[in-house]
Amino acid sequence: MRKVLVPGTFDPITNGHLEVVERASRLFDQVVVAVALSQKKNGRGTLFSLDERVELARLVTAQLGNVEVMPFEGLLVDFAERQGACAFVKGLRATTDFEYEFQMAALNYRQAPQLETVFVTASPGNTYISSSIVKELASMGGSVEGMVPPIVEEALRAKLAR
Ligand code: PNS
Repeated sequence: MRKVLVPGTFDPITNGHLEVVERASRLFDQVVVAVALSQKKNGRGTLFSLDERVELARLVTAQLGNVEVMPFEGLLVDFAERQGACAFVKGLRATTDFEYEFQMAALNYRQAPQLETVFVTASPGNTYISSSIVKELASMGGSVEGMVPPIVEEALRAKLAR
């Protein structure tokens, strides 16, 4: 049984992330969407709390039978080993993602060479989507329809109205 992790901050989960999760769920037996607490302590620096990010990811992946969502803290490779995963699946939108992802893949390989990093490319309609862009747009009252699932759109509206 091949289990993989789709790791990220997911603040919040977008249609771009969902595409990566869906592709991973077709390629592998089991997929864990691994939601990082965040680089900063106690989730400060994220718009949504860890619980909120996990909950939104669960809601929008509920229809995918071999996908589960779990929070993690600390090193990704340690979480992968605890989960018995064999690889990470990450999305590439453009060459601008490559440098950072290449560095992360090398760092993770250095720590745990038995864990592969597998990249899937975003489909043309999703290449411009990022959580940061979605948050910026939503915070200025712009529409993020089609960039995130409707339930995430609603959560953004509720969060930013406060
Ligand atoms: O959605 P993001 O921000 O691109 O996700 C980055 C993430 C969470 C995958 C990455 O920061 C991560 O793996 N964090 C856990 C800590 C870790 O293992 N860092 C890599 C080696 S320093």
